[in-house]
Amino acid sequence: MAGKDTGGPGGSSGAPAPAVIGPSRNTVHVAVLPGDGIGTEVTAAALAVLEPLAKRHGIGISTETLAAGAFHYQATGTAMDESTFRRAEAADAILLGAMGWPGIRQADGTEIGPQLDLRFRLNLYAGVRPVRAIPGVPVALADPRARGIDLVILRESTEGLFHSRGRGLVTQDAAEETLRITRAVTEKLSRFAFRLAERRAIRRGRKGRVTLVDKANVFRAFAFMRAVFDGVAREFPGVEAAHHYVDAMALDLVRRPWDFDVLPTENMFGDILSDLGAGLVGGMGFSPSADIGDEHAVFQPAHGTAPDIAGQGIANPTGMLLSAAMMLDWLAARGAGQGFADAATELEAAVDAAFANGLRTPDIGGHDGTAAAVRAVIARIGA
Ligand SMILES: NC(=O)c1ccc[n+]([C@@H]2O[C@H](COP(=O)([O-])OP(=O)(O)OC[C@H]3O[C@@H](n4cnc5c(N)ncnc54)[C@H](O)[C@@H]3O)[C@@H](O)[C@H]2O)c1
Repeated sequence: MAGKDTGGPGGSSGAPAPAVIGPSRNTVHVAVLPGDGIGTEVTAAALAVLEPLAKRHGIGISTETLAAGAFHYQATGTAMDESTFRRAEAADAILLGAMGWPGIRQADGTEIGPQLDLRFRLNLYAGVRPVRAIPGVPVALADPRARGIDLVILRESTEGLFHSRGRGLVTQDAAEETLRITRAVTEKLSRFAFRLAERRAIRRGRKGRVTLVDKANVFRAFAFMRAVFDGVAREFPGVEAAHHYVDAMALDLVRRPWDFDVLPTENMFGDILSDLGAGLVGGMGFSPSADIGDEHAVFQPAHGTAPDIAGQGIANPTGMLLSAAMMLDWLAARGAGQGFADAATELEAAVDAAFANGLRTPDIGGHDGTAAAVRAVIARIGA
């Protein structure tokens, strides 16, 4: 991976030299976009944890921090400069905090969303949103089976209703936004879902199950999506394939979330269900995510910039740390080396161990702020 033409370290635009974490041999190049509000706080937390992790596993991560987001928009008139996009595109992976600020808006009344632009421009069709109960973290449901919640919502992230983003038709009397589902993207998303289920089946020692979440009872677009999904399902006879209507899934994610495994779905449905999923396992601060395409990937917590708690040092960095673990795992799968896979496993285990041993962040009623959470996780690395 170090030999890959990434444009950095020491890239061509005269930007500051990237920081190198760990050895320079076997080094990957990560574009870091902290963004706004607590995005910057949880990003700093992730970088602090990656340092000892990289040393321990003999892996190198060169990071280049790039400015983008609502405050960048306020200061410069663009949320993400084209040169920043190019540098992010050239990196081996992109680590993003969160972007947006409710008081900073574009002329049409919407917020800036460069994190959404990245998904579209880099074709990051697979929005991977794990929903996993962390030992020691309170879950929303009283049923003891809720401690075993471990599913993945796979949000298609380049089309669906978001296809219409910025293009909706608004007149004096009506507004219209159009949903788009394509065969090509549905096939890719479905294959991604089945491969993910195969990997999870090995790790969990049970048969994988992929459940398409749609609204095929009402809309032709979803009947089409279902037919394409069914075609791909036949390529994976070792994985169980099922369907669920989205409204029933909202009910069943509350009634029996422990029964589900991998849930591919349309963009808007995934947007909504993944917040519901986060609510099941401790809240937004515990939710990681990865937006993955065939060539690029962005890793970021599922939460936003949390203006209500920004600057207070109380943001929960867990979602970001678990996103960083997903990044290491993805880099390993792309050939970065076993050290990256081992580091991913250890980071996830360190987060689990920290909470199992009493770490309690303010969002779950504790007093351990961002710095304390970082210390607790670092203490578990190599422990
Ligand atoms: N991917 C992104 O960059 C992204 C995603 C969602 C929202 N946003 C933006 O973020 C801003 C705020 O949006 P919002 O308030 O709807 O959502 P939010 O996720 O920022 O906050 C929702 C609630 O969850 C809490 N919360 C979120 N993350 C937390 C964490 N790590 N630790 C502790 N508490 C946490 C917040 O304090 C708040 O009460 C908006 O400008 C929005 O556009 C950005």
